[in-house]
Amino acid sequence: MKYRIAVAAALFPVVAWAWPWSTDMMDQPSIKPQEGEMAPFPKRSIPLRTDRVDSDMLLTEVANRDEAKPLTSPIPVTPEVLAKGKTLFRIYCGACHGQTGKADSPVSSKIGAIPLVDDYVQKTLTEGWIYGTITFGSYIMPAYGKPTARDDGRGSDDLSVEERWQVVNYVRHQLVKDAAAEPTKTAAAQ
Ligand code: HEC
Repeated sequence: MKYRIAVAAALFPVVAWAWPWSTDMMDQPSIKPQEGEMAPFPKRSIPLRTDRVDSDMLLTEVANRDEAKPLTSPIPVTPEVLAKGKTLFRIYCGACHGQTGKADSPVSSKIGAIPLVDDYVQKTLTEGWIYGTITFGSYIMPAYGKPTARDDGRGSDDLSVEERWQVVNYVRHQLVKDAAAEPTKTAAAQ
């Protein structure tokens, strides 16, 4: 009798499916990743990395700023585009070049960020060169499109092709007006 109880006790884990390697703890009522419908993102959350799809028209591949130089903006200058460009400019360019491109941010003079409202950027540089500068960066300026094309790899791929052109359109078609409407910051005001 004792012998039978011992065997039954030894075999109990088989019946209970309770060997250490059993995975029945996995099956529980909690919601598992990728299961069911995804909850919507909280309002104002920001994607860290998105796979963006640019329309074919925008997929002009350029390897460096020189190749970008002859390009002209493929997207129209509409109020919507300018509004998007302005938002991106204030996020990505304002810290160094000033919120309205007057090189009046606290760091502008320290790192030599040039004013973008001057004739040099407004008239001498081509749209393509400005696009190329945003894409690949410049000497001190980091890249915002293709940091991997730089020898030092500095920058991020935060801006899609379309977003970079939106910034170019904003720089060339509205920045000067916005700059004129806003007083230049002085060292005391910062
Ligand atoms: C981290 C600081 C920094 C940020 C952010 C930055 N720039 Fe610059 N940018 C510079 C500096 C410094 C220079 C001048 C030295 C150089 O050419 O690198 C410059 C130069 C430029 C030039 C002139 C290039 C030339 O050939 O002379 C343009 C145009 C320009 N920036 C546009 C932009 C735009 C548009 C953005 C936003 C997408 C931006 N920059 C963001 C620092 C920055």
